[in-house]
Amino acid sequence: MAETKKYYITTPIYYPSDKLHIGHSYTTVAADAMARFKRLTGYDVMFLTGTDEHGQKIERLAREKGVPPKEYVDNIVAGIKKLWKIMDISNDDFIRTTDERHEKVVQKIFKKLYDQGDIYKGAYQGWYCTPCESFWTQRQLIDGNCPDCGRGVELVKEEAYFFKLSKYQDRLIEYIETHDEFIQPASRKNEMLNNFLRPGLEDLCVSRTSFKWGVPVSFDDNHVIYVWIDALSNYLSALGYMTEDDEKYRKYWPADVHLMAKEIVRFHTIIWPIMLMALGEPLPKQVFGHGWLVLDGGKMSKSKGNVVDPVVLVDRYGVDAIRYFLLREVSFGADGVFSNEALVNRINSDLANDLGNLLSRTVAMIEKYFDGFIPAAGEGADVDIELQKLAVETPGKVEEIMNKLEYNNALAEIWKLIGRANKYIDETTPWILAKDSSKRSRLGTVLYNLAESLRFISVLISPFLTRTPEKIRQQLGIEDSSLSTWDSLSEFGRLPAGIRVQRGEAVFPRLDVEQELKALEELQSKTGKTVEGKESVDNGETSHKTAGDRQGQQDTQEVEEITIDDFAKLDIRVAKVVNAEPVKKTDRLLKLTLELGNQTRQVVSGIARYYTPDELIGKKVILLANLKPIKLRGELSQGMILAAADDSDNLALLTVDREIPTGSKIS
Ligand code: ME8
Ligand code: MG
Repeated sequence: MAETKKYYITTPIYYPSDKLHIGHSYTTVAADAMARFKRLTGYDVMFLTGTDEHGQKIERLAREKGVPPKEYVDNIVAGIKKLWKIMDISNDDFIRTTDERHEKVVQKIFKKLYDQGDIYKGAYQGWYCTPCESFWTQRQLIDGNCPDCGRGVELVKEEAYFFKLSKYQDRLIEYIETHDEFIQPASRKNEMLNNFLRPGLEDLCVSRTSFKWGVPVSFDDNHVIYVWIDALSNYLSALGYMTEDDEKYRKYWPADVHLMAKEIVRFHTIIWPIMLMALGEPLPKQVFGHGWLVLDGGKMSKSKGNVVDPVVLVDRYGVDAIRYFLLREVSFGADGVFSNEALVNRINSDLANDLGNLLSRTVAMIEKYFDGFIPAAGEGADVDIELQKLAVETPGKVEEIMNKLEYNNALAEIWKLIGRANKYIDETTPWILAKDSSKRSRLGTVLYNLAESLRFISVLISPFLTRTPEKIRQQLGIEDSSLSTWDSLSEFGRLPAGIRVQRGEAVFPRLDVEQELKALEELQSKTGKTVEGKESVDNGETSHKTAGDRQGQQDTQEVEEITIDDFAKLDIRVAKVVNAEPVKKTDRLLKLTLELGNQTRQVVSGIARYYTPDELIGKKVILLANLKPIKLRGELSQGMILAAADDSDNLALLTVDREIPTGSKIS
C-alpha cells in the first residue's frame, strides 16, 4: 500500500490592511502554486494563510474610526479573503489571530512556557514606533526617529514578561549549522548566524500593558501577549495543537516550509525555533525567505503608499497572466522589479506568442485537415521521438526544480517544451504535407504529437496557471479527467485519437505595448499608486550597505533613466582610508575613518568579508558623501563607500587611477 505523503506549507499571516498589494500576492501565489504542485504530485497538502490582527496600531485605527477593533478587522479581513479568491488561492484554512481557536492555544503556549520558567516577569523600557509596530533601543534611533520609517517614536516603560531566548541560543546555532536546508536561500542563513545569533541574543519582551487589543495572558490579565508569540503560534493553532482535536497537528507538523519575504526570516529562524524547542516540538523543515518586489528601487510597502493593486491587474489581464508574471519574472530568492513594461512583454512573448500560438495553430490545423478530429499517430520519425522524449522527461525535471522552490526555472523548463513543440511545427511543415495526399498519415502523426504535447503542457502548467489548462483541454476536446493527472504524463500517447477539437478564443490575446502602458499608467494613478523611489531600510540592522551590497539581479533590474540634475544631487568624493577596524559583535562591518580634504569622516561599511583593515589603510576610495547619516551597531556612519559586486560574492572597491587630492569631487 502506498503511504500518503503529507506537505504543510504556510504564508505569513498578514497585517489587516485594505491596501494588500502585489507584494503580498507574490508570497501567496507562490505558496499556492507549490500547494497545487504537491497535490498534483500525490501529496496530502495543508496550505495555510491568514491574518495577524492584534496590536496597538489596529486598536488606534479602530478608535479613530469609532468602531470596535474586531469590527474594524472583520471588514478588512473580508476584503483580504476576497482578494485570495480573485487570485485563485487554494488555501485549505484561513487562520485569524482573533479566532477563539487561536487565542486559546496562544494562551496555553504562553502558560506552558511560563510554568517551565522560560517566560519570566521583568520591566521593559523602549522606544516604540506605532506604524511599524517595532520597539527600538535608544541607539537604534536615527535623529530620534524610527530607523525604519523615519517617523516619531514614543518612550514606553512598563512591567512585562520576557522569553528566555538566550537559554536556547547555543542549541539553535548548532541546529542551524547542522541543517543546511533549514534556512533558505543559504545567504540568509549566514546573515542570521553572523548578524544576530553569534553576537548573542537578548531575552525577548513578550507582553504589554500599554494597550488592550491582544490575547490576554491567562494568569495575569493586565497583560496582553505581544506580537511574535501571538503571530508565530498561528502555524500550530491552525492544526489544533494543544486541543482535543489535534489530528491535523499529528498529521502535518512539522511544517515542510514557511514562506515569507526576507524581512521576517529573522523572527522565523530565531524566535520561532526557540519557541518550538522550548515546547519540545520538532522544527519546521524549512524557512524560505524570498526577495522583495520593488518599484523603481523602493520596496513596495503599504506604509509608504507605493503599492500596485493586484485587482486592477487581474481585471485587465486575467489571473493567469498575473500569476505567471509573478512566478516567472523573478528568481525566487532575489529582489525583483515590478514594471508594467516587463508585465506586458511577458504576456506577449511567453503567453500570447509561445503558448497561445501553439494551441491556436494546432487546433486550427486539426480542423482544417482532419475536420476537427484528432488523427491517429503512425510510425515515429526522429523529430517525433525528440519531442516525445522531451515531453516525458519534463515532469521529472520540473519536480526536481520545484523541490528547490525555483519557480522561475520550473516555468522555464515547461516553456522549453512549448518552444520545442513550436519548432516541431516549423520542422515538419504540416501545411506542405497537406498538399500531398501520400503524406496524409505523416500529417496525422504530426498533428497528433502536437495535440498530445499540448495535453502534457496543460497538466504541467496547472499549478501555476489556474484557468488556462481547462481552456486548453476544452479546445482539444479532452473530457476524461484521467488525462489531466500527473501520472498520465508517464507515457506519451495516452490522448485517444478521434476526439473532436473545438476552436475557441485566443487564450492570451496579443497586447499593443504602447497602448497598454498608457492604459496601465492611467489606471494606476487612479488607484493611488505613488512611487517614492526611496531605498528601503532592511529592518535597520544591515543597512548603510556598500553600493555593491545590492548585488544579484543586476541584469534583470530595469533601472529608471535619470537626468544630469538627478546626478548632481549626489556628492561623490575621493577619500583616503586613514584607519579601519572591525565593528564589535559583527563580522560583516568595518568602521573606517576617512580623510576628505581637511575633514575626517566615519563610515561603517559591510566589507569586512572582502578586505582586511590593513589592506584598506592608505587606500583611496570613492565616497557618497551626502547620504543621510545613520547609526549601525551604535556606530555613526556618515556616507557610503562605493564598490562593485557580482553574483558570486566577489566585491571590489572603486578607486582613482592617478594621484588626486582627497576631497576632489566626482562629476
Ligand atoms: O510581517 N515583496 O505581515 P505583513 C514581496 N504579520 N513580498 C512582500 C512585499 C514585497 N514588496 N510586501 C509584503 C507581517 N510582502 C507579520 C507576519 S508571520 C507569523 C507574521 C509579503 O502584512 C512577504 O511575504 O507585513 C512578507 O514577509 C509579508 O508580506 C509581510 O506581511
Ligand atoms: Mg511588513
